[in-house]
Amino acid sequence: MPDLEPGKMPCHLAIIMDGNGRWAQQRMLNRIIGHQRGAETVQMVVDQAVILGIKYLTLFAFSSENWSRPRREVQALMLLLKKYIRNELKKMLKKNIRFNVIGNRADLPSEVNQILEDALDKTAGNSGMVLTLALSYGGRQEIARAASKIAQKVQAGELLPEQINEDIFASYLDTSGLPDPDLLIRTSGEMRISNFLLWQLAYTELYFTDINWPDLTINSLHEALWDYQARERRFGKTSAQIIQRS
Ligand code: IPE
Ligand code: IPE
Ligand code: MG
Repeated sequence: MPDLEPGKMPCHLAIIMDGNGRWAQQRMLNRIIGHQRGAETVQMVVDQAVILGIKYLTLFAFSSENWSRPRREVQALMLLLKKYIRNELKKMLKKNIRFNVIGNRADLPSEVNQILEDALDKTAGNSGMVLTLALSYGGRQEIARAASKIAQKVQAGELLPEQINEDIFASYLDTSGLPDPDLLIRTSGEMRISNFLLWQLAYTELYFTDINWPDLTINSLHEALWDYQARERRFGKTSAQIIQRS
C-alpha cells in the first residue's frame, strides 16, 4: 500500500463503530465483551488520528435508538463509557485533545453526565485534535432540536425568518463549530447511516469495510484513508474544473 499523503488527510473523520456484538457472538462470547474490546479499538484510533494530524475525530458511540436494546446491555455500555472517559482523560490532557459531546445529553444517567462534564471542562483549553463522542445521538432529533431553538429565537423577535440560511441553521446543530466530515467510515459490513449526522454528511466520502470494530487494525484504518486520498471530490463540478484548480 502506498504511503499516506499528510497534505490530503481528512480534516474531519467520522466513524460508525459497528460490529462489537457480532465480533463477540462469533466467538461464543457475551456481546459485552465485544464492547470492551471495541473500547480498545477506540484508543488505537484516537492515537492514530493524533499521529496522522487529523484535526477532528467524531465517533458514534451510542445512538438514540440504542436505548431500545436490552437493559443489561445499555447498563454495561454506560459503565464502559464512564470507565473509558476516566481512563482517557489523562491521555487527552497529555495529547492536547479537546473533548466534545454531541447528542441528547439529558437522556444520559447523571453520573455519566458528571464525568463528561469534568472531561469537557478540563480539556476546554486544549488546542489539538477535537475528539467528539456522539452519545444518545440521532440525526433527526438533532435537526428537530435545532428547528425548535430557531423557532424560539424567531418568536422572541431575535431572528427573522428570512435570515435563516444553511449557515445559520448549522449553527443551531450540536456540531456547531465543527466542519462537516470529509470521510465517514463504517465497520461491520452494514451499508447504512443509521441516523448519524444526517445534515453534516451531505458531501462526505463514505467508506464501508466488512471488518468488525474490535478487529480494526492500524493497517485497515490506513487502507480507508488511502482509499479516501485516491478519490476525486467534485462537489457538483466537473472533473476538468477540479483538475484545473489543483
Ligand atoms: C456497535 O456494535 C456498538 C454500539 C452500537 C453501541 P453493535 O453492538 O451494534 O454490534 P452488532 O452490530 O450487534 O454486531
Ligand atoms: C449505529 O449502530 C450506532 C452506533 C454505532 C453507536 P447500530 O448497530 O445501532 O445500527 P443499526 O441498528 O444496525 O442500524
Ligand atoms: Mg450494530
